[in-house]
Amino acid sequence: MDVFKAVKMTENVYWVGAIDWAVRDFHGYSTGRGTTYNAYLILSEKVTLIDTVKKPFFEEMMMRISSVIDPSEIEIIVSNHSELDHTGSLQQTMAAVKPNNVYASPMGSRALAAHFHWEEDPIEVVKTGESIDLGNMTIDIIETRMLHWPDSMVSYLPAEKVLFSQDGFGMHLASTERFDDELPPSVLEVEARKYYANILLPFSPLVTALIGNLGKMELEIDLLCPDHGPVWRSSIDWILGKWASWAQKKPCPKAVVIYDTMWNSTRSMAEAVMEGLTLEGVSSIMMPLRASHISDIAAEVLEASALIVGSPTINGRIFPSVAECMNYLGGLKPCNLVGAAFGSYGWSGEAVKELNGLLEGMKVELVSEGLRTVYVPDEQVLEESVNLGRSVGLRLREICGGLE
Ligand code: FEO
Repeated sequence: MDVFKAVKMTENVYWVGAIDWAVRDFHGYSTGRGTTYNAYLILSEKVTLIDTVKKPFFEEMMMRISSVIDPSEIEIIVSNHSELDHTGSLQQTMAAVKPNNVYASPMGSRALAAHFHWEEDPIEVVKTGESIDLGNMTIDIIETRMLHWPDSMVSYLPAEKVLFSQDGFGMHLASTERFDDELPPSVLEVEARKYYANILLPFSPLVTALIGNLGKMELEIDLLCPDHGPVWRSSIDWILGKWASWAQKKPCPKAVVIYDTMWNSTRSMAEAVMEGLTLEGVSSIMMPLRASHISDIAAEVLEASALIVGSPTINGRIFPSVAECMNYLGGLKPCNLVGAAFGSYGWSGEAVKELNGLLEGMKVELVSEGLRTVYVPDEQVLEESVNLGRSVGLRLREICGGLE
């Protein structure tokens, strides 16, 4: 028995993807709610499949397709994005359905060749401004380079006002529900924010440009179909607005304090820093690295304008978990941050200086030269830690116009 069925989205578009309830680590991103790999079937004259799924989910996708048509009726496959969660089963799918045409962007064609080392390259290249003829309808191509890979593109089906946006506007969320309005808004907001912070943040200027372009093109979009998570039909303006806002990174009246600790000295300083922020009326969140995943920290930093980092010194360096977190955050390029560093040490005390360098490398505006203490902080050091929090809080208040 074919367990898995397609879900009808419009008159001629069906969701034929797969639900990954078990994945908890998506190359370093903690996917606490799992994810979906969305593929879409268009019942045009030339039946078309938009994207495929991660390799282990090939059978699930084929069963969903089979619930609507004989898969061998598929004539066209469009690969909007070559990352393997969407192309891992492309070769198997091509072998099973024997399509007449497989399309990808110029960079997609190269990426797929580098993945699969074809003996004879089967990919036909499509570019921005070109259309694919589906017989009784067309698909318009818009390349979206570096959103989030060089090959990325989106496909627009004018006949049914559907935009297939690959990773764009997606989220990692496994659910039985396929549409945005079937899920709690709070869950959509949390997962969309985490997805943007961890995948799109480094490319924010390009996100701004894309959303501007979509506006200029005046595309009518009734359905926004990403490759992960729910399909947007009721909150399209909401998710576009969220992405535009995250990309612009306007001042946010919130501080994030990150630290790790060996003997609770840096922890005591972190707690005092938090008190200082609170005294300044600043909303703050503490993210102890022993209890926080770096991908959750990234999501908090996305909607903060202050980043304060604490680390002990170990073997003349910052603590390994702090180094990992700073390396990760640095790659995501969060902008418009103020901050400071602090930490306890035993005899050499390099961590704060090293953290200052890392924060400056991230273009964080430092409000002080940092605060460090030998071994256990005494009353004076704890007061200085409170004052460090107050200094960051004051600067944040200036940036955010008083937080009113
Ligand atoms: Fe969902 Fe960039 O792959």
